[in-house]
Amino acid sequence: MSEPLRLGFIGCGMIAAAHAAAARLLQEDGSVRLVAAADPDGAALDRIAAIAGGLEHCFRDGSDLIACDAVDAVVLITPTRFHRDAILEVCASGKPLFTEKPLAPTFDVVTEIRDAVVASGIPCQVGFQSRFHPINRRLRSLVTSSELGAVMGYTLRDDQYWPTGDVVAGHTSWRSDVAEAGGGALLEHSIHSCDLLGWLFGPATRVYAAARRVFGYSVEDTAALTIEHANGVVGNLVTIFNGVEGREERRLEVFFERGTVELTTDFVVGAPEDSLLVQRPGMPAERVDVTELRRADFAAQGLDPDRAIWVYQYLAHRAFATAIRAATAPEPGVDDAFGAHAIVEAAYRSAATRLPVDVATVAGT
Ligand SMILES: NC(=O)c1ccc[n+]([C@@H]2O[C@H](COP(=O)([O-])OP(=O)(O)OC[C@H]3O[C@@H](n4cnc5c(N)ncnc54)[C@H](O)[C@@H]3O)[C@@H](O)[C@H]2O)c1
Repeated sequence: MSEPLRLGFIGCGMIAAAHAAAARLLQEDGSVRLVAAADPDGAALDRIAAIAGGLEHCFRDGSDLIACDAVDAVVLITPTRFHRDAILEVCASGKPLFTEKPLAPTFDVVTEIRDAVVASGIPCQVGFQSRFHPINRRLRSLVTSSELGAVMGYTLRDDQYWPTGDVVAGHTSWRSDVAEAGGGALLEHSIHSCDLLGWLFGPATRVYAAARRVFGYSVEDTAALTIEHANGVVGNLVTIFNGVEGREERRLEVFFERGTVELTTDFVVGAPEDSLLVQRPGMPAERVDVTELRRADFAAQGLDPDRAIWVYQYLAHRAFATAIRAATAPEPGVDDAFGAHAIVEAAYRSAATRLPVDVATVAGT
């Protein structure tokens, strides 16, 4: 077997802990080793070092990590506003990059990042881990197989626990500030859903949206979008930062020519909220055993279905390491992220003007 891919993390906060746990599991597989991390906060570095089982190199400045010869690939997990400068440096270094979403707080910087990554030719994966969820993968196979006919439309509700007028205990506060985060429930959280919608139903062409700031943050806590796709599919996305803890993350209903699919998913592997219901005309509703679905999905990917793999970041990092070692393009990539950002930007422009917005106009295509 070839040498493990040596990762360096820039940013060691809340979600870096999930990335580090994923890297630790992959280290046991021998495919990855987390060797370095950078964060101005020494305590944050210590937390990630503990999860990794020790680090060979710790830095306060991400530039030193990017330049470090012991680092083969960079994983970028800082607050969103710091992504641009680090990504441009990684592009100059030629090293592969796994970056968290969103790419940047504003769409002009997103475009700059996409252009720089494409021009540099570096392999780049973006942290849309929902694509690796077995329930979402099953839905995609129903869409692509046409087993239920063509998709007609969908409704997607996507919310995140974010206390009204406060921040989640243990979280940092930058998400509530538009200057730092760029947007709220839609950009920071539901960009995952915008990516999923493009992955499931193809490119979006037009968006009509309304957004609200109910609880006094400078970012929106509520937004509703109507989205048209190039293949004619139409749907709604409603996204909300809400103060009720413990709800499932996402509920999606898809209407096909010959059936319907309803699913709920959460962030954690095997969440009790996970469900999948498939209904066909004249047949009893099929309530899919999601535990068996997950076991079969993992087994088909060569994973031990009984092993506790507790975040989908594990599957995302596994895909990244596999792509880098095979010299293939990792997915979802920077163009996928650009497509998701274009939906978000079209929604913000539509909410501001109260007019439908063409995604092609936003994307400059
Ligand atoms: N994929 C997902 O589901 C998901 C979930 C949560 C967060 N995120 C994204 O991950 C990123 C980080 O979010 P978080 O919740 O972990 O944030 P956080 O505030 O908890 O942690 C950020 C860390 O980065 C460090 N940092 C700040 N500036 C830095 C710099 N210039 N160089 C190195 N380190 C720096 C901070 O000290 C902190 O430790 C954001 O872009 C966020 O949108 C993605």
